[in-house]
Amino acid sequence: MDRLVKKKLPRHIAIIMDGNGRWAKKRSIERIIGHRKGIESAREVVELCREIGIKYLTLYAFSIENWRRPKKEIEALMNLLERYLKNEIDGLLKNNIRLMVIGNIQDLPLPVSEILQEVVEKTQTCDDMILNLALSYGGRDEIIQAIHRIIKAVKENNLKEEDITESSFSSYLFTRGIPDPDLLIRTSGEMRLSNFLLWQMAYTEIYVTEILWPDFKREDMIRALIDYQNRERRFGLTSEQLIKTG
Ligand code: FPP
Repeated sequence: MDRLVKKKLPRHIAIIMDGNGRWAKKRSIERIIGHRKGIESAREVVELCREIGIKYLTLYAFSIENWRRPKKEIEALMNLLERYLKNEIDGLLKNNIRLMVIGNIQDLPLPVSEILQEVVEKTQTCDDMILNLALSYGGRDEIIQAIHRIIKAVKENNLKEEDITESSFSSYLFTRGIPDPDLLIRTSGEMRLSNFLLWQMAYTEIYVTEILWPDFKREDMIRALIDYQNRERRFGLTSEQLIKTG
């Protein structure tokens, strides 16, 4: 932990929490037990991020593609999510953490969308950290939805065509107001983006670990952060240019 340089911490971390199923399979137990253990990892990571001063944390909790999973697993995941939100509300308030959601909330079962809305509303003035859950989320879907909203705004004379820029486009995404992720962590060794924050991750540093999500703990997160701090982020420039501009 003392190896972390406060000034070089990422402002926004995004995580693909992968490997719950494989963790369970290795133990010949039900996949849902892997997801349950995954919740514990998420809790630990949120706590650590809050402690060290990470401002934004986005967790990929359920993708649009995940709706294709067996009904039984989806139901179990939704129940787990509902319980997680109910359990977490006091802790979020106490720790001044604001919950935000990106994705198609209207597709979630009513009890989940209701509790989500409640937690989002109750924590909306919390500002030490933003915990952003991606639920029923897909990066391509998000971009298409943004395009529809832009076309509507142009048609209704609320946006001029020449004002469509990278930055104005960003404001039509689910993530409006949230800076792009500096660091993406993916567990379980897969080298894929899996339709996550496609627009936002143009210059994100990617860190992949073989560790399965239920086994991912504080020290693994610290390891990822140390690795990130040792990277040189050039954003298309040369090393020499970076040195000159400081
Ligand atoms: C990946 O494991 C995880 C998911 C599909 C999402 C569920 C995530 C959790 C329950 C963790 C924490 C959640 C919250 C809401 C904070 P997988 O099933 O894809 O694993 P596999 O690739 O090994 O099958």
